[in-house]
Amino acid sequence: MNRTSRHHPLRLRRSLLSVPAGNARALAKSAGLDCDAVIFDLEDSVLPERKAEAREALAAHFSALDRSGAREHVIRINAPSGPDGAADLDLALACRPDAVLLPKVSTPQEVLAIADWFSEAGTDDGPRLWAMIETAAALLNLAAIAEAGRTRGSRLDCFVVGLNDLRKETGIADIPGRPFLVPLLLQVIVAARASGLDVIDSVFNDFSDTDGLEAECRQGRLMGFDGKMLIHPAQIAAANDAYGVGEAEAAEALAIVAAFGAPENAGKGVVSLRGRMVEKLHAEQAERVLARADLINERKKKS
Ligand code: COA
Ligand code: MG
Repeated sequence: MNRTSRHHPLRLRRSLLSVPAGNARALAKSAGLDCDAVIFDLEDSVLPERKAEAREALAAHFSALDRSGAREHVIRINAPSGPDGAADLDLALACRPDAVLLPKVSTPQEVLAIADWFSEAGTDDGPRLWAMIETAAALLNLAAIAEAGRTRGSRLDCFVVGLNDLRKETGIADIPGRPFLVPLLLQVIVAARASGLDVIDSVFNDFSDTDGLEAECRQGRLMGFDGKMLIHPAQIAAANDAYGVGEAEAAEALAIVAAFGAPENAGKGVVSLRGRMVEKLHAEQAERVLARADLINERKKKS
């Protein structure tokens, strides 16, 4: 595989809604929402004394869940080494979510150990593993953790940034525009891409602030994220929009692909389009944009 090629296969991960597994109303509501993934949370949104109850609710929810659509169903477990780790892993084995999201990953070994556990349990084709990047140690070990995604059988295919924990541990301020976090976020993105992983921006806590959310979605998209983790249904539309394909973007992509397809440009690696240089790599990027647009349209038709 080309080390710098992205996303295998292409998946839409614009909007990933976290749903506390202990909240029956939220669980019920989640089935009908227009997000690309649902992350059923057993970790920080569930009190320690309610964990067992939340696992039971989640098992019941999965047994009745419609898995026919393209949406991914993910379970965020508690620390595998902690008091709920074993029970959460057993639940994940029984539910077979598309992915298990590991909290507070700080080393590649933590990912590989869980991948081995699932393999030893006899599951070869799932679940995938996603890693929350939300500790200072993870930021120091980013490349090594991402590289686990290249290890045969590691199952890792996505990073999800967790800024609430990262701010708590580091003391970095929560300021609109995230001035002191952007350099770190870019490192997470670069590490993910170097190993072919998807990478998802952190939650925006103030779910009543639509303008703030839209601005942060736009910022995340410009930085290169694939989508945003969300905490409330009211946030889904903004993430789908910001991480979707706009009309102008699709038109531009079509023009680039058409320019390379034109007979007069046959065999050329670089062409001129409206006074701009366009290289073959831009045509590949444009094809990716169009493939994403197709996926989004398919999803719209189905819902
Ligand atoms: N997933 C699914 N449904 C949700 C939801 C979520 N994350 N958050 C809210 N809803 C539902 C509510 O149950 C309610 O449904 P109803 O119309 O059937 O009553 C509706 O959306 C409106 O909710 P609202 O009253 O505006 O919010 P709330 O006060 O019930 O909940 C939070 C606010 C923040 C407590 C809640 O959104 C939440 O728990 N979010 C996720 C937190 C989380 O997962 N944290 C860990 C990751 S950071
Ligand atoms: Mg966290």
